[in-house]
Amino acid sequence: MKMKKQIVQLIEQHGTPLFVLDHNKLRRNYRTFKKNLPRVQCYYAVKANTHPEIIKTLFLEGSSFDVASYNEFMQIYEYIKHFGEEDKDFFIWDKIIFSNTIKDKDTLSKIKRYRPLVSFDNSDELKKIKTYCDTAGLILRLKVPDTGSQVEMSSKFGAEPGDAASLISQASDAGLRVEGLSFHVGSQCTNFDNYSAALAITSEILNDARSKGYDMNIVDIGGGFPVPYDAQVPEFAKLAKLINSECQRLFPADVEIIAEPGRFLAATAATLITEIIGKSRRDGKIFYYINDGVYHTFSGVIFDHWLPNFTAFKSGEIEVCAVVGQTCDSFDKISLSIQLPVNLEIGDYLLTENIGAYSIASSTNFNGFTGAKIIHTNPSC
Ligand SMILES: Cc1ncc(COP(=O)(O)O)c(C=O)c1O
Repeated sequence: MKMKKQIVQLIEQHGTPLFVLDHNKLRRNYRTFKKNLPRVQCYYAVKANTHPEIIKTLFLEGSSFDVASYNEFMQIYEYIKHFGEEDKDFFIWDKIIFSNTIKDKDTLSKIKRYRPLVSFDNSDELKKIKTYCDTAGLILRLKVPDTGSQVEMSSKFGAEPGDAASLISQASDAGLRVEGLSFHVGSQCTNFDNYSAALAITSEILNDARSKGYDMNIVDIGGGFPVPYDAQVPEFAKLAKLINSECQRLFPADVEIIAEPGRFLAATAATLITEIIGKSRRDGKIFYYINDGVYHTFSGVIFDHWLPNFTAFKSGEIEVCAVVGQTCDSFDKISLSIQLPVNLEIGDYLLTENIGAYSIASSTNFNGFTGAKIIHTNPSC
C-alpha cells in the first residue's frame, strides 16, 4: 500500500478522498489477537467500523461481535443467520453481546425473542430489562480505572464495585441471571496497570458472588487494546502476557474470558488518501486545505481524541503547518501542528495511515460532502 506507484494508480482509478481498506491487515490483526490471547474469545466491537465487508472478513476468521444498538444487533444477527451455513442454530451468546449498558424499551422489546446477552450497570436498567426483555442473560459492567487512556469510559459507564453484590442479588430476586462481569479500561489504553487493577476488582466480585451460590462464569475484559499509532505505544504482546498470567491466577478454568476489541482490529487496516485543494499562509503558518475533514473521515479527531499523521509524496523544507478540512466551518481543523514540507501545492496528495477505526463510522454528510470513496484490497470472496 505504501508504494507510491500503487497509490498513484489507485488515485487515477478512483479519485480522492480514498479510504483503502486492507483485509489482509484485518485478518492479521485478528490472528495476532487470538494467538497472543488464546483463552479469550474475540467479540469485535462493531462501533469501531461497521462496514459489512469488515464484518464478513472477521466472521470468516471466527470472530464474534459486540453491538451497541438494535440496528447493529440485527446487522450481525441477519449476517450470521444468512452466512453461518454450518451453524444455522447458533447459540446467540457465542456470537453476539449487546454491550451498551443503556437500552431503550423499544430495543429491549424487539430483541427479547432472541434471548440475548446484554450488559447493565444500574438497578433502573435491571427493572427495564425485567419488564421488556426477561429472556436476557446479564453481564454486570464494573467501573474500573481508565487512567491515561485516550478515551475514558468510567465517568459514564460501570457500577461502583461496592454496589456489585447488591445488583447481582437484585437481579436474582427479579428472576434474572447475572452470567458474568465486564469492564472497559478506556480506549487506546497504554497504561497496562488499568488492566491489572480491573482484573483484580473483577475477580474479587466474581469469587464473592460464586461463594454465595451465584453461578457466574463469564468475564468480559472489554476493549482498549492499544494500536501502535506511534513508537511510544507499548507492545500488545506485553499486555497479552500480563492478561494471560493474571487470568490464569485469578479465574478458575471454567470461567470463560471474552473481549470486545474495536480499534485493535480495524485501525491499522485502513489508509486515507486526500488531496490538497487550497493553501494559504495565516499569521505566518501554512494552512493546507484538503478534501476531507473532521465532519467526515477525520471525525475521530473530535470523537476519538485522535491525532492523525500525514505523509506527503514530495520532500522539501519542513515547517509546522496546519491541515484543515473542506467545510465552511472554522471548527473543521484536523491538525494545527503537523510537520510537512512547505512546497506542497494544490493538487498534491497526503496519506494518513491507521485510520480504520472511529473514522467512517462517525462521518456525516455536512455541507453536502459525501465522504471518502471506500475501496477494498484483498477482500473476502
Ligand atoms: C462497551 C465497549 N466495548 C468495546 C469498545 C471498543 O473499544 P476499543 O476500540 O478501545 O477496543 C467500546 C468502545 O467505545 C465500548 O464502549
